[in-house]
Amino acid sequence: MSTSAAVPEPLQLTIGDLVARSGVPASTLRFYERRGLIASERTYGNQRRYTRDVLRRVAFIRMSQQLGIPLSAIQEALGMLPEERTPTAEDWARISRCWHDDLSARIRRMQDMRDRLAACMGCGCMSLSVCALANPVDQSAEESTGSRRFAG
Ligand code: FES
Repeated sequence: MSTSAAVPEPLQLTIGDLVARSGVPASTLRFYERRGLIASERTYGNQRRYTRDVLRRVAFIRMSQQLGIPLSAIQEALGMLPEERTPTAEDWARISRCWHDDLSARIRRMQDMRDRLAACMGCGCMSLSVCALANPVDQSAEESTGSRRFAG
């Protein structure tokens, strides 16, 4: 019977480590960093080093992006956490409820647009006064990033 010693996890991750563990390309990680979504420290050789909690932050960003949440809203949500901490399970539960409401609202809007499109199919008038697609009701009031609801 052989025993193998557990390899200690590194305290900090290189960008290569982060790519390998997250599956997110280095270019995307650097972009997230430029946008202030994640942060790194630099070595004397000017190489990036990430704390391990950045993995969870990247997961939060990717999951939110999969839901169609704009980066600006993700950034706002992260920025509202105390001391800009990495989202905890409780944070995710609260924020994901907002994302769920956003997603439901977008689905309803898309279904409405699909129905309007069905009425247009085969028409081609493109009339600004008649066509429900060319002149939809003002939807800007319905459009929401969800992040405004995080406070409180
Ligand atoms: S194109 Fe005629 S109603 Fe939309």
